Amino acid sequence: MVRRPRKALFGRRPAPPPPVGLAIAAPVGHDTSRSERYLVLRRPMDAPVPASPVPEGITFAPITADDATAVHALLKAAYDDRFGSVPESALTWWKDLMLDSEYDSNLAVTAKFDGEIVGFCLCWTSSFVKDIAVDARFRGHGLASALLAQAIEALRRRGADEIVLKVHVHNAIAQRLYRKFGFAQE
Ligand SMILES: CC(C)(COP(=O)(O)OP(=O)(O)OC[C@H]1O[C@@H](n2cnc3c(N)ncnc32)[C@H](O)[C@@H]1OP(=O)(O)O)[C@@H](O)C(=O)NCCC(=O)NCCS
Repeated sequence: MVRRPRKALFGRRPAPPPPVGLAIAAPVGHDTSRSERYLVLRRPMDAPVPASPVPEGITFAPITADDATAVHALLKAAYDDRFGSVPESALTWWKDLMLDSEYDSNLAVTAKFDGEIVGFCLCWTSSFVKDIAVDARFRGHGLASALLAQAIEALRRRGADEIVLKVHVHNAIAQRLYRKFGFAQE
């Protein structure tokens, strides 16, 4: 049975209006499918990182094989085939991840609440943010910000001088998250 989060972690803000006036840039990274619908955002490593405290009760840990099914389910639900894509099978997703030459377990971080996976952030070693997702029950409380801040720090320690990502043109909430951290179109 799925345990309910503490009341303080409930609550979602209404979705913002869709972004306007944004040009669509060329794709980079692994995924070239449906690239015309994505913006490429870049962030110099020396851009300021906003204060991003880890929400109460949340712990971070590198992903393990035991987490694969839950993380895959989180991504499937979060992207909903609109703002990202994930293989149908959790096993395929996990195998692809483990075989990827740009995978590093230190860049694949789960967020747990009472032992349940409620957030995930994956970066490639090429300094590309591949996935960031938060369980819908836990959104709006700074969890993605905390995950992104730790990912930026992990990439900074690897010596990266910039970070790149792609975001769907209609994913206004994610775009606000990224712009808050200094990501901008090239
Ligand atoms: C995008 C996502 C990861 C944000 O997770 P979150 O934990 O709710 O984000 P945070 O609480 O850390 O909020 C960070 C910023 O995002 C923006 N934001 C978050 N929720 C918002 C909302 N409902 N309305 C407007 N802006 C919002 C704000 O800029 C916020 O900063 P602020 O609190 O200082 O204003 C989450 O909505 C999600 O999992 N979405 C589906 C998966 C997805 O689209 N991933 C990104 C793929 S590129």
